[in-house]
Amino acid sequence: EIDAKVSELLSKMTLEEKVGQMTQITVTIFEDPKKPGYFDAAKLKQGIQDYHIGSILNVPNPGAPTLQRWQETMTAITNEANKSRLKIPILYGIDAIHGASYTAGATLFPQQIGLAATFNTALVKRGAEISAYETRASSIPWVFSPDLDFPRNPAWSRMWESFGEDAYLSSRMAVALVDGFEGGNVGSKYSVASCMKHYIGYGSTTTGKDRTPSIIPERTLRQYDLTIYQAAIKAGAKSVMVSSGEINGTPVHASKHLITDILKNELGFEGVVVTDWKDIIYLNTRHKVAETKRDAVRIAVMDGIDMSMVPEEFTFYTDLVDLVKKGEVPMSRIDDAVTRILRMKFELNLFQNTVANLKDYPKFGSAEHIQEAYKTAAESITLLKNKDAVLPLNKSEKILVTGATANSMKNLNGGWSYTWQGENADTYAAEKLTILEAFQTKLGKENVLYTPGADIEKEDDAEIQKAVELAKSASKIVLCLGEKNYTETPGDISNIFMSKSQVKLALALAKVNKPIILVLNEGRPRLISDFEDKMSAVVQCYLPGNEGARAIVDILYGDVNPSGKLPYNYPRYPNSLEKYNRKYTESLADEEQNNDAKYEKSYSPQFEFGSGLSYTTFNYSNLKIDKTEINNTDQINITVDVTNAGKRAGKEAVLLYLSDNFASITPEVKALKRFDKISLEPNETKTVKFTLNQKDLQFVNEDLKWISEKGTFTVQIDNLKKDFLLK
Ligand code: IFM
Repeated sequence: EIDAKVSELLSKMTLEEKVGQMTQITVTIFEDPKKPGYFDAAKLKQGIQDYHIGSILNVPNPGAPTLQRWQETMTAITNEANKSRLKIPILYGIDAIHGASYTAGATLFPQQIGLAATFNTALVKRGAEISAYETRASSIPWVFSPDLDFPRNPAWSRMWESFGEDAYLSSRMAVALVDGFEGGNVGSKYSVASCMKHYIGYGSTTTGKDRTPSIIPERTLRQYDLTIYQAAIKAGAKSVMVSSGEINGTPVHASKHLITDILKNELGFEGVVVTDWKDIIYLNTRHKVAETKRDAVRIAVMDGIDMSMVPEEFTFYTDLVDLVKKGEVPMSRIDDAVTRILRMKFELNLFQNTVANLKDYPKFGSAEHIQEAYKTAAESITLLKNKDAVLPLNKSEKILVTGATANSMKNLNGGWSYTWQGENADTYAAEKLTILEAFQTKLGKENVLYTPGADIEKEDDAEIQKAVELAKSASKIVLCLGEKNYTETPGDISNIFMSKSQVKLALALAKVNKPIILVLNEGRPRLISDFEDKMSAVVQCYLPGNEGARAIVDILYGDVNPSGKLPYNYPRYPNSLEKYNRKYTESLADEEQNNDAKYEKSYSPQFEFGSGLSYTTFNYSNLKIDKTEINNTDQINITVDVTNAGKRAGKEAVLLYLSDNFASITPEVKALKRFDKISLEPNETKTVKFTLNQKDLQFVNEDLKWISEKGTFTVQIDNLKKDFLLK
């Protein structure tokens, strides 16, 4: 039915109207300079009536409008669209990537890296449903999420927007987000269209700096990166944003192979392919593969781009109209692009429902939604070290809370929160609790010692001295360290170590000889090997969002039992950034040299992927596989018993790894193939079941085909292992 409506509408459209649909302009272009946040009627009319634009991109400044303001904004846009000849609704897109993070009073969840750490897809899906509900309450139908980037260098400035370093974990989480956003019926007033980004290889720059070149062999691109997109497409993702980077010398925006051949033809993606910010122009001005801006438009559209984000005023429109008129771009390509865009608008039911009726959204920012964000934060927080059971804390102990991130909402939220870099979260989330405030709420203000101790960047010896003095009268120190807020290129770093000013504070406090609980509030693993041995406990909280501080403090006091697991290897050295699923040859010390002290063992992360402690003890036993020999078509069923041998109830993410022991492409030491998160009461045992299929035994060979090879495989859960033979 939708296809018929799309064809009918398309048949009525002029070339100009079609090209307009392919144009996405930032909302600021329509702004009245004298009244920021409000439209200049003539500009809005020009964009929608004269240039027939199809989409508007939110620019997250000056801050977070209320639901009513969003309603007014969308009403103005919709009224203008309704005056146009064909009354085609405008598709408004926004970076609401951890909740409706540009609306005042919305529920803000942990950022994606924290979602991955929960290993709980049901929880993550529920969070996405809430984000969709609150985004639609803001009259916005399209979110630029999930991020399916696959970081190969943990210093990458958008590491925290990804699900970490594992493709299988990323795929499962991607499906959870797409399911939650789109809800199986994207036309419902509680659903939004998702946008997978940034297709493809964006997170894998060699230097770790944003938008610098990547070298990724197609074999590995297919084996890892592409599988994440495949999973999200299968889940129904409606759109995709293209990577601003280049792979092997080809900007992705200029790659017919990646966009048309692989994404659209091979994977059968029928949704909208949108560029990233100004990326068509950058084919000319930055990448230098197009001699003119007009040629950049031709290349990108011919390679498969359907919508141009921020085409610098209306040059994309005028150039593309001209290119079609002169026969340099065929109408069939335009029709394909516009069909995709119109289909998405019909699927979203935008022709009937563009402006939210606020009565339909009584749960916006409700206690129920906030509780879900709290639960998600609590399940993401990852206890990495707990020497001599220093945690949980006891309420009678005098605690010094210190560190640059101890009293900051912006650090808890990270980028894309209220404003682009999330710098203003301290103002917009002023009623929410910082870590310090959560301590004060739990213990009473007078019972908590506090001083910032350090700035993230500036060294301040006097401040350190203050913290040292206070530490002398405390029984334990909670030291909160982290990073400045950032997204995209502002987050580029040349040094992956924790900043000097903060390391100095940690080392000075260590001399006081009181147990230190290090709380890491960071988007990527900043190296802590200079002082980690002096910390009694290490708690990674990532960027846990508005409810994060309550969750952190509840975990520190044992009111919540931690259950997050690390979704990446936390490196120890700047030149040892191996992933957990490394190749055998990355551990030089394993063979002949293993007794020779002069060879530093090259694989020794500070904390390994999947690390995460609990206040109870989980014992694994009875690992069983139902076959020890299988054929090419068989499934293999695996069970393992997990027992809570401690005194507290707890949750445990059970991770199943597989090793292909010998293969014609050097095998990974192990790779995550399944996981499940379970809850166990003290003394309770649960049997966890997994099934592996043929596809799980396969890898991509030199001919770019997924194949399996006969030989032995090893299943590993915790420290238990079982072998089977593929005949
Ligand atoms: O969605 C983002 C993208 O992740 C980075 N560049 C800008 C886009 C739209 O804001």
